[in-house]
Amino acid sequence: MYLGLDLGTSGLKAILVDAEGHVIDTVEHHYPNPHPHHGWSEQNPADWVKACEAALDDLHARAPDMVGDLRGIGLSGQMHGATLIDANDTVLRPCILWNDTRAAKEAAWLDAQPEMRAITGNIVFPGFTAPKLLWVETHEPETFEKIAKALLPKDYLRLWLTGEHMGEMSDCAGTAWLDVGARDWSDTALGTGHMRRDQMPDLCEGSAVSGQLRDVLRQRWGIKGKVTVAGGAGDNAAAACGAGCFAEGQGFVSLGTSGVLLAAKDRFAPDAASAVHSFCHAVPDRWYQMGVILAATDCMNWLSRSLGQTAADLTGQLPERITGPSDLVFLPYLSGERTPHNDAQVRGAFVGLDVAHGPADLTQAVIEGVAFALRDCLAALSGTGTQLETVIAMGGGARSAYWVETLATVLGLPLSIPAGGEFGAALGAARLAIAADTGGPLEEIMTPPRIAQTVAPRADLADAYHARWQRYRALYPALRDTAS
Ligand code: XUL
Repeated sequence: MYLGLDLGTSGLKAILVDAEGHVIDTVEHHYPNPHPHHGWSEQNPADWVKACEAALDDLHARAPDMVGDLRGIGLSGQMHGATLIDANDTVLRPCILWNDTRAAKEAAWLDAQPEMRAITGNIVFPGFTAPKLLWVETHEPETFEKIAKALLPKDYLRLWLTGEHMGEMSDCAGTAWLDVGARDWSDTALGTGHMRRDQMPDLCEGSAVSGQLRDVLRQRWGIKGKVTVAGGAGDNAAAACGAGCFAEGQGFVSLGTSGVLLAAKDRFAPDAASAVHSFCHAVPDRWYQMGVILAATDCMNWLSRSLGQTAADLTGQLPERITGPSDLVFLPYLSGERTPHNDAQVRGAFVGLDVAHGPADLTQAVIEGVAFALRDCLAALSGTGTQLETVIAMGGGARSAYWVETLATVLGLPLSIPAGGEFGAALGAARLAIAADTGGPLEEIMTPPRIAQTVAPRADLADAYHARWQRYRALYPALRDTAS
């Protein structure tokens, strides 16, 4: 038995699989994500541990023998968070998450320093880890002085599971301290960010062994043998492992809290200026590129909270098939934006509101706005020469047929919908556990899912959506000027 743990923004998902990677059971526990000030987004690392304990308690209560046979654990997690611990491994302050933009000034300064883009292959975005540390240095100097290690969220969970300070390439690529081409910490990048190599965890590949589960935890859940903990991956690389995306041309679009359009790369081909992210994959000698938007289903959740109706109720008011774009345009910059704008200050908008518009119109506009933002990501990826051939749709938003058809039409790409079951980051993490424990061939462990349906772009509506995307694009400069 193997376990995949995906430490997401809204909760921790655990998935138990057998040695062939077939899913036996899944469980999820949620935790809060406070936004104490404008642009801030934090989490209490103790909540992650509690969610992990609760998930394992549940799995153990439901299938004690299977949990007793556990051989390996793989970790996936929300990227970029700064979990700061002292020399006794005590957490110094709440983790500052990937969608926190308080360090915009520090990010712009770091990004302008010579060599940073060349070393890291990326813009230093405000959500990345390094600028957060500069913010802490300025605003919380007594905390900064005590930092013994800066860990990414899932690597803090690993510390609790194994007692080891370990990180892996795919997640550490999003810190702005890693030489992403060389797959090693960069002393230059660290020094520029006022950090040292000894404050970093050791590095391994995602498919390698990072440590063993602590005995006290093995005993707690009645696990008989040793349990290997794999390096694992940042959630997007883990999702690529779950969806079997490794070769050029293969990719996915994810409608999660954030939105991601990812393309696998067999070489490191950065193009920082495009605002495309170029990161290490979770397996050796592979990389990937992606466009990231900060709010995808987060926009729908915001609308749902604001209107007092569930997201399912809102999308339920739309027809099964799309009929053409709304005259109402939504710009989804609720937390600022990464690709293509790299703009932490900009905020979202509805443009074209009419007295006749109701919840269904707002919902359609939100769905379209997120699709247009991902179309911007596709343009950025294409601009770097990356082409996508097969694209899998995943994430909570992909459960809406309306959203998927909108997205396929706006992107002008057929989208593959996997046949039920699991294929995301938690499965990818479990597969990395199998790879680390067995040393088996990666291409046999990380296969693509069975595709139930391919949703084609609607040729009859392509021009209408394209024209609306152009209108959407023209609105950003006005919003930017309003924000600054
Ligand atoms: C990627 C990113 C998000 C988080 C979400 O750069 O910031 O996709 O990983 O969990």
